[in-house]
Amino acid sequence: MWIKRHRAWEPPESSATPESAWRARRRIIKTFGVGAAVLGLDTGGARATLLGRLLKSGTQGNEESIVIPDVPWNDQLPAERNGAYQLDRALTPEAVNATFNNFYEFGSHKEIWEEAQALELSPWQIKIDGMVENKITIDVEELIRRMPLEERLYRLRCVEAWSMTIPWTGFPLAELIKFAKPLSGAKFLRMEAFMDKDVARGQTQPWNPWPYVEGLTLAEATNELAFIAVGTYGHTALKQHGAPLRLAVPWKYGFKSIKSIVRFTFSAERPVSFWEELQGTEYGFWANVNPGIPHPRWSQAREEIIHTGEKVPTKLYNGYAEQVGHLYKNINLPDEVLYR
Ligand code: MTE
Repeated sequence: MWIKRHRAWEPPESSATPESAWRARRRIIKTFGVGAAVLGLDTGGARATLLGRLLKSGTQGNEESIVIPDVPWNDQLPAERNGAYQLDRALTPEAVNATFNNFYEFGSHKEIWEEAQALELSPWQIKIDGMVENKITIDVEELIRRMPLEERLYRLRCVEAWSMTIPWTGFPLAELIKFAKPLSGAKFLRMEAFMDKDVARGQTQPWNPWPYVEGLTLAEATNELAFIAVGTYGHTALKQHGAPLRLAVPWKYGFKSIKSIVRFTFSAERPVSFWEELQGTEYGFWANVNPGIPHPRWSQAREEIIHTGEKVPTKLYNGYAEQVGHLYKNINLPDEVLYR
């Protein structure tokens, strides 16, 4: 995610290399060697294109990044694939997906996989609270063992205009909601990620409103597509993908899919999400994918498939309009609010 910070002392953007560009340049040089430096990078937006080109030309990420966590619930995976969720494109190679991540707790760049290995997954407590009958703190292992696991193939469309396709293993969020038994006044679900500054250096950045928080309406959270992933590529989810529990809501921009959740809170009031608090005009609460509503600083009409570099048209609700379109039919909000 690219944040624009306006500070009085900063030179105009036109006179300097944007931070995203030099960070990207440093990172790509680190990953792919000097060949990338020769190609050069001029804008943050070029980063994904270049990465795609490099990967297409033979670099398939770093296999060492696929570190399957050693956790007691490993025996629960793989799970049977639910054939209802089909893709229109190839799966992203795992080594690519495992080395190109957004997980700001471990740094505001894409190569966080090594830092993320510091996350301890067991024991890991999940708190369910707020307007529910079944207020409970439960070990994640027990929760996973209670839930019906299945595999689903989903697309992921990032607000930065790139996309991936991922085989998730997990359970419908609706199952967790059934377990929690919300009270009749509950309208929203707030999800909160772990907080541990000793493990996650990004959380020492005081300008970010930690912990990472996301929210859905209960109608969205109980939609068949809303999924809690505990696995990727047929095994326990990698730490960089948000183990032990991570949301997958494929009709929304990727930032809604909160990683490494520790708390689910049911409420009558809409929660304020991490990005909404940081830059709400660019990364809103609803964040439904819509190619017709540009981000204030770039178009959302197309997306780059991250491992091929191919640019393809983005679809309304990321291609999931049939499943979720009805949720937004009677919501009287400007498009810039619903789709940003
Ligand atoms: N969850 C947490 N806790 N912290 C984050 O920084 N980044 C989000 C989302 N979930 C993020 C998060 C963003 S911006 C995206 S695009 C996706 O995770 C990326 O998921 P991936 O790294 O598995 O592709």
